[in-house]
Amino acid sequence: MAGYIPQDVIEEVRSKADIIEVISEYIPLKKSGRNFKALCPFHNEKTSSFMVSPAKQIFHCFGCGAGGNVFNFVMMHEHLSFYEAIKKIAAKVGVKLPETTKKNTATDSLFNKLLRANELAMLFFHRQLMESTKEAASTRAYLKSRGFDRNAAENFKLGFASAKWQGLFEHLLKEEISDKVMVQAGLISPRQGGGYCDKFRNRLIFPIFNSYDKVVGFGARVLEKGQMPKYLNSSDTLVFSKGKNLYGLNVAKKYILDKDRVIIVEGYTDCIRAHENGFNETVATLGTALTIEQTRSLKRYTKNFILIYDADEAGELAALRNLDVLLPEEVMPKIAVLPKGTDPDDYLKNSGADSFNGIIENAKNIFDYKLQLLFKKHNVSSAEGKVKISQEFLPTLAAVTNAVLKSTYIKKLAEALGVAEIDILSELRKFQKSGYRPEIKKSENKKKNIDLAEKILLVIMLEDNTFIADAKKKLSIDDFISDDIKPVISKVFELYEENKKVEPAALIDELSDEESKILISSISLDIPEIKDKKKNFSDCIMSIKKRVLNLKLKNINLQIRSAQQNEMSDKLHELTKEANFLLEEKKGLIKK
Ligand code: UTP
Ligand code: MN
Repeated sequence: MAGYIPQDVIEEVRSKADIIEVISEYIPLKKSGRNFKALCPFHNEKTSSFMVSPAKQIFHCFGCGAGGNVFNFVMMHEHLSFYEAIKKIAAKVGVKLPETTKKNTATDSLFNKLLRANELAMLFFHRQLMESTKEAASTRAYLKSRGFDRNAAENFKLGFASAKWQGLFEHLLKEEISDKVMVQAGLISPRQGGGYCDKFRNRLIFPIFNSYDKVVGFGARVLEKGQMPKYLNSSDTLVFSKGKNLYGLNVAKKYILDKDRVIIVEGYTDCIRAHENGFNETVATLGTALTIEQTRSLKRYTKNFILIYDADEAGELAALRNLDVLLPEEVMPKIAVLPKGTDPDDYLKNSGADSFNGIIENAKNIFDYKLQLLFKKHNVSSAEGKVKISQEFLPTLAAVTNAVLKSTYIKKLAEALGVAEIDILSELRKFQKSGYRPEIKKSENKKKNIDLAEKILLVIMLEDNTFIADAKKKLSIDDFISDDIKPVISKVFELYEENKKVEPAALIDELSDEESKILISSISLDIPEIKDKKKNFSDCIMSIKKRVLNLKLKNINLQIRSAQQNEMSDKLHELTKEANFLLEEKKGLIKK
């Protein structure tokens, strides 16, 4: 289990390590202006889009969108947890890590507090299951009846939540976790009429770990038939997101690397059963279809994805449609199909590992699989059928970024339909012109979406913290139009309030979600040096305020029009006054 390092020690390690020196140990860096450049180690490229800033102590690849500080680089390059990366770098720069401490320190971020609350909850549930208490006896019997042994419960830290209303709550209070943190971790809920109750009661607990071995959430299965919902999951919190996390990844990641493939199933029990049968490279998607975020986190380990479908679902081409969005990520999804009505858990239990292996060996790549389904669905001997097959196959073709792969399947499709390749190609062009665009990579997306004034403002504040006070006085978070930048700005304000130094590399550790981290590295390395900060700062503030005022005015004018139409004179009077007030404010802004 990962350890715990106080915030000030993390900061000491980060400030003693030089990102240029650390990254140079892995890849050759070349000086380029104020920054350093390299071929990105995280994706294949011929020209360097990987940049490192010695001044800001961050890196960012403008090709694949990877970015962060020195810890993130080592984590990604060596597939380490946050804890392991710090340990490694601490040894390099000669910082001694303290023995694991039990309590949260005041300087601990909310993020760390939630992780600690989750970890303690996991240990509590796990102990309740493993110790031979009477309460958990039927749960242990249930696991046994399903063929899950003690080893499985140990590996996946399964647990038992008793029927008590405040079992976990009282335990965590004793550990000096505040009720506020428990609520924010989704472990307890406020009760009508005051007080709290445990969220998970009388259920079998499946803790969900992130890839760095931290408990981020829980899935909880009913023990008695008929109760709903069958699984109660943690709702999304600061540290958990159903569409981003993958069950079992913490255990599976080293096997995924070794075997250079990942098996993706739907359910918790499917995943555990697969591991028990030697398919340790298995993860589960928490019941949803594989998302882009999950794909991005998996492709750090392998590009060979094997998705297991049960035949019911695969019968539906709709299930495949959502896989098209994964293709621009340049992974190779294969589909393995189980007999109708079974899931991997049932299948492994009834037919065994060898037979399951056969199913996996028979997995077809998404193109062949989709073509096969389309040929079943439509009559290829009729012209109409040919048109339909090609039309439905076009989105998949359009999503492929690799030219060789694309032309291979254009050829295959043309042959199968008995038409000329050039005709498929021209249909594909038409289709792409008609507005279909495969999902572009996040970082490029971000660059386009964020208001330039907001970007420059952020860079100035990070380069010179004295500007933060002024920005805070003049703007509120709601004045920012780009949703993605809001959490970053509010963190900047918050840290400033706490008298902390706000620098890109430190800010990255303070933010919990990957997207905000990457946003900082990309903006910081994207905006050229800002010479006259003072002037640029006031221009940005002005531009943001003007936009806010214009929006308000537009809104009021709409209301004025409706008040006029409805002859509401009082209201009209009030609105006009407000509009004039805003106009004056706008004039004042321009004069300044
Ligand atoms: P299944 O209904 O297939 O359950 O849901 P299962 O995994 O086979 O579980 P067992 O074998 O009956 O114990 C597949 C996955 O969908 C999510 C869970 O992640 C589950 O493992 N799910 C399902 C929920 O989140 N909530 C539900 O109510 C049901
Ligand atoms: Mn099942």
